[in-house]
Amino acid sequence: MIRKIFCLALLPLLLATPSQSSNAWFDSQWTGSGAPDVHYVPTPTEVVAEMLRLADVGESDMVYDLGSGDGRIVITAAKERGAKGVGIDIDPVRVREGKQNAAEAGVSDRVTFLQQDLFTADFSDATVVTLYLLPDLNLRLRPKLFEQVKPGTRVVSHAFHMGDWTPDEETSIGRYNVFFWIVPANVSGEWEWRLPGDNAQSYRLQLVQDFQKVKGVLRHDSGLRPADRIDLKGDRLELTFEKGEGPRAEALLFEGRVDGDVIEGTVHRVGEERTPWRAERVPGTKMAIDEG
Ligand SMILES: C[S@@+](CC[C@H](N)C(=O)[O-])C[C@H]1O[C@@H](n2cnc3c(N)ncnc32)[C@H](O)[C@@H]1O
Repeated sequence: MIRKIFCLALLPLLLATPSQSSNAWFDSQWTGSGAPDVHYVPTPTEVVAEMLRLADVGESDMVYDLGSGDGRIVITAAKERGAKGVGIDIDPVRVREGKQNAAEAGVSDRVTFLQQDLFTADFSDATVVTLYLLPDLNLRLRPKLFEQVKPGTRVVSHAFHMGDWTPDEETSIGRYNVFFWIVPANVSGEWEWRLPGDNAQSYRLQLVQDFQKVKGVLRHDSGLRPADRIDLKGDRLELTFEKGEGPRAEALLFEGRVDGDVIEGTVHRVGEERTPWRAERVPGTKMAIDEG
């Protein structure tokens, strides 16, 4: 037990920036100019399986492992789940190892390894990003994630958090923790729309966003009404407002897909037909999700 606690406490140190005297450093026969920000330590096979399960990786996915080591995560994603993958590692020895392992696993046609610094790499076509870095590296990477990937991209991290971006799910396999997030669309700011057959009255919605958590107030009929429920999952937004008072109260449900400064979807009252809904963001009201 004591040994287990000792090992867990030492994990960040073991992963931390290598010193010139460490064996792992010399073992990697490093010849490049950019030094790794974290040592190579492989994710155990059962944790790889859990990461891919949590992200629900499938044939249509493009999985990027940032700091890919021997390539096991993207190779398993390709071999067992039919995905495509890119492994990015700064260490050329690891990149060579990844390529060789992919060839042995028969997935070289679906998996690529690139020797790059993950902080300057382009991973904008990822649908899934996997990480086993360090807490401060996850935080450094976070604004870049929001900058680069599409809303709805899934992010899985072995062992380490993303600061105040709370995970959508977390699990553990024995003593190993796995965290899962869905990158939310940026819905912050003010949105305007009119509904047909509503005397063409305008609605104005103000949304404040803390990663995937959103609060909002609707201005309509010259009154203000806080949203009863706002649910943001990737680029899917759902809003519920109670309209009217007392026994005449009725819920108005908006559902739509966020695409830049436009939301398109439907609106309906419970038990009634859906009608189209299109909202536009008021220019200049959008705020960055993560300024870094
Ligand atoms: C803890 S290992 C994880 C390996 C693999 N993702 C896994 O889970 O088995 C971290 C890897 O990140 C690589 N690395 C460290 N700093 C990096 C950087 N700035 N850019 C790209 N790779 C980096 C290291 O060479 C190492 O292979």
